[in-house]
Amino acid sequence: MDPMLILDLVIMVMERLSFVDFYRARCVSSVWYSASKSCRMRQANPWLVLFPADVLHLPLESIDDSCKLFDPIDNKSYTVRDLGSDILRTSCLASYNSWFLMLDRKTRFYLLNMLTRERIHLPSLDSMESTEGKKFKFKRNFDSSFTVTTFHYKDNVTLLSTCYGIGAAVLWVDERNKDYFVVWAFDRSLAYHKKGDDGWRVFRSSTNQSCVDMVFIESKLYVLIEDGSITSFDFSCGDSPMEFASFTPSPECCDFEHLAVTLSGQVLAISSEERHSYDIYKMDPKSSKWSIIKSLGDEALLLDQRITVPAKDGVLKNCLYCSYNDQFRRDDDYNLREDDNGICVVNQTNNEVQLFNHLTASSPLPFKDARWFIPTFGGK
Ligand SMILES: *[C@@H]1O[C@H](CO)[C@@H](O)[C@H](O)[C@H]1NC(C)=O
Ligand SMILES: *[C@@H]1O[C@H](CO)[C@@H](O)[C@H](O)[C@H]1NC(C)=O
Ligand SMILES: *[C@@H]1O[C@H](CO)[C@@H](O)[C@H](O)[C@H]1NC(C)=O
Ligand SMILES: *[C@@H]1O[C@H](CO)[C@@H](O)[C@H](O)[C@H]1NC(C)=O
Repeated sequence: MDPMLILDLVIMVMERLSFVDFYRARCVSSVWYSASKSCRMRQANPWLVLFPADVLHLPLESIDDSCKLFDPIDNKSYTVRDLGSDILRTSCLASYNSWFLMLDRKTRFYLLNMLTRERIHLPSLDSMESTEGKKFKFKRNFDSSFTVTTFHYKDNVTLLSTCYGIGAAVLWVDERNKDYFVVWAFDRSLAYHKKGDDGWRVFRSSTNQSCVDMVFIESKLYVLIEDGSITSFDFSCGDSPMEFASFTPSPECCDFEHLAVTLSGQVLAISSEERHSYDIYKMDPKSSKWSIIKSLGDEALLLDQRITVPAKDGVLKNCLYCSYNDQFRRDDDYNLREDDNGICVVNQTNNEVQLFNHLTASSPLPFKDARWFIPTFGGK
């Protein structure tokens, strides 16, 4: 048979496979492997990844440098092995589909694809410079905070030497050409890096306030700041980001903790009065007023990735997928509790909560973090 025809047939078959079978089929032969790269990119239902905790005094041979993946639809777990023992002392700051933004103990950032184990190393922090010409020196402390020294080279004065943790972070990856964009917050500043840049750049909003959370969509970064307002930046116009709008919440509103974006590009703000209970708000662009929304429609909210996804192929309609509280995520010594790991799916229609405590209860080793993510697969 014509080899092109075979390839086309294999592609047709592979595009019909489930996520797990797709990855199995890739290993059949080199023809199947190259066919997998030509398959249309698809997304599966949300999976969980659980990151291993650092267990002190463990003998070297019993260190488990693996992450656990869990597919709630098949009720099946998978293990991603050989991630290197530094994974135990590395925090996950953000995710984008199968890609995760990681920060290791030596203050090195990298992107990790949890399905292919591919890594992309990001520049060191030595080269960090602000849009106003300041230079920064970062020194990692024993916990996950930094001591940051700020130099202003115009008059050779050391301005500041203070201890900061990393706040919110954002990752965006174009899976076709591996373009990526990373932002993270420290103090009242934001540091960003995109593929092709030499190093990190630092900027500040005119509001001079700390970032609580942020989302990135179509070159625009929306930053939720301490006073509850949202400032936005456009990264598509030249060298430095351009601040283009600020939205201030009405006084009766609301202790927003998170931002998210819907499939149609609408920015949502999320507050949580109590555990497993979330209020979702959207802003009317005309009046700039926030109002609570009762339903996500035919979408589900993946809070760990700050996006909504279509509720089909097993994704639960009007449900909110979340893991435990963000504040613990930056604490290196935090372990997920075996009997209450905080991982859940909340039905926004009737507030019913599905828990996943069996994942930590049944594991011999502790986990420090868990995130829902969308395993994307296929090649183009
Ligand atoms: C999922 O699998 C676990 C063990 O692998 C089992 O204990 C549990 O009952 C299963 N849950 C469902 C809903 O089938
Ligand atoms: C600032 O530092 C530069 C290079 O280290 C040096 O050449 C310059 O004389 C210094 N300026 C002042 C005002 O100390
Ligand atoms: C920003 O806020 C900090 C702390 O409140 C203050 O020390 C600093 O001077 C402010 N910077 C500007 C440019 O307003
Ligand atoms: C959520 O609750 C509604 C109302 O009780 C129910 O009809 C729907 O099936 C529930 N969704 C899921 C995914 O359980």
